[in-house]
Amino acid sequence: MADFGYDVADYCDIDPMFGTLADFDRLLAAAHARGLKLLLDFVPNHSSDRHRWFTESRSSRDNPKRDWYIWRDAAADGGPPNNWISDFGGSAWEYDPATGQYYYHAFLKEQPDLNWRNPDLRAAMIDVLQFWLDRGVDGFRIDVLWHILKAADFPDNPLNPAYRPAMGEMHSVMQLHSTDQPEVHEIVAEMRDLADSYGRGGERVLIGEICLPLDKLVRYYGVGAPGVHLPFNFHLIDAPWQARALATFIDAYEAALPPGGWPNWVLGSHDARRVAARLGEAQARVAAMLLLTLRGTPTLYQGDEIGIGEVAIPAGQLVDPRELREPGLGLGRDPSRTPMAWDRSDNGGFTTGVPWLPLHSDWRQRNVAAEQGDPQSLVNFYHRLLTMRRASEALSIGQYVAVEAVGDILAYERRHDDERLLIILNLGDREQALPAQVHGATPLLCTLTARGDGRSMRPNEGAIFALPSDRGH
Ligand code: GLC
Repeated sequence: MADFGYDVADYCDIDPMFGTLADFDRLLAAAHARGLKLLLDFVPNHSSDRHRWFTESRSSRDNPKRDWYIWRDAAADGGPPNNWISDFGGSAWEYDPATGQYYYHAFLKEQPDLNWRNPDLRAAMIDVLQFWLDRGVDGFRIDVLWHILKAADFPDNPLNPAYRPAMGEMHSVMQLHSTDQPEVHEIVAEMRDLADSYGRGGERVLIGEICLPLDKLVRYYGVGAPGVHLPFNFHLIDAPWQARALATFIDAYEAALPPGGWPNWVLGSHDARRVAARLGEAQARVAAMLLLTLRGTPTLYQGDEIGIGEVAIPAGQLVDPRELREPGLGLGRDPSRTPMAWDRSDNGGFTTGVPWLPLHSDWRQRNVAAEQGDPQSLVNFYHRLLTMRRASEALSIGQYVAVEAVGDILAYERRHDDERLLIILNLGDREQALPAQVHGATPLLCTLTARGDGRSMRPNEGAIFALPSDRGH
């Protein structure tokens, strides 16, 4: 738990803290009985330093598992082998006096990187996927997939001329040689082959965590052979919340997708700031409408659907190593990892034990049960969006058609056969003109209860309108 689960000590078991394999099987069966799919987070880049593979690897230079991790001699001056920086700050190399070499860790020193260039390690990790697929999991979210291969000769990374310390030390160099190597796509293809062998219709899904610019991101759909089904697209989190910038990005993404590549949109995650904290509560509704009306698989992070905002974590309760290693830069992830509040009972009904992080301060009002009882709540707005999306082929599988707009308005159509929907989102807090096409029309769904005069969009208003079919013209 050095990085809260992202340091796996046994890839084929459940940490006793969370239960047993039998508990896992019950969870999976219970999810399936409810028509839910269950994916696991597969962490292939690094294991825990407590994994027996690493214990063996570090025991001697000629241990058969030595090459399952990345060991290098010191540089001529005795320092680390190259200038690679950990994503959590500091050198990515740790000296191990027992055998007099450094090992590489892209994250914490408790998370040594596995060597995917070693065929035995690679086979052992593919076996891990098979272990869980055989148990019936519906797929994987694959952690830091673009990290798993590094340049074979470990050259220094180029310095980043735009670096400022406030960005976090990882940005002092550009991760040119430590990530996203071309041969990674062969490994991804092997993972995909395995997933596909469990059902021709693609019943098992692979989602890759990949933080890269568009042109590099879309390569994870596959180079030469199919890659992951969904390379996570985190750009809604990072992009400026500005209508023109988002419109340009959506077009660029749609255009960059390979033939048959199915889009994906991520609005929040356990590594990002809460949506309501980032955008404010009023825009959180507009963002929900955007997420659930864009073409592609939406990814919604738990707690964002009840609008949990900024949670201040008292200094003594911070636990995230990201924060503790580079304090005060706002890089910590604890504020987005606080318990989900289900109801007004102790600890929001999340646990009868002591929660690992404090709840948001307004949890007595902002919890699932309270919001379910309020027709105007954010959670009920999400339900309406989801219901509409399921009932509408235009929304679930239809084409995306950009619509020209000005100011803070983002507009697009979704179309399928005769069904045409126009989505208009006011990303700002000022009134904007409504396109003439829908003057006076009543939207199917709106983020606000009180609408404007039928010719304008109120601040923070998002609306979905039905358009007449253009067939027969
Ligand atoms: C991914 C996870 C993050 C974790 C890191 C290292 O980015 O989302 O939570 O700390 O990988 O495994």
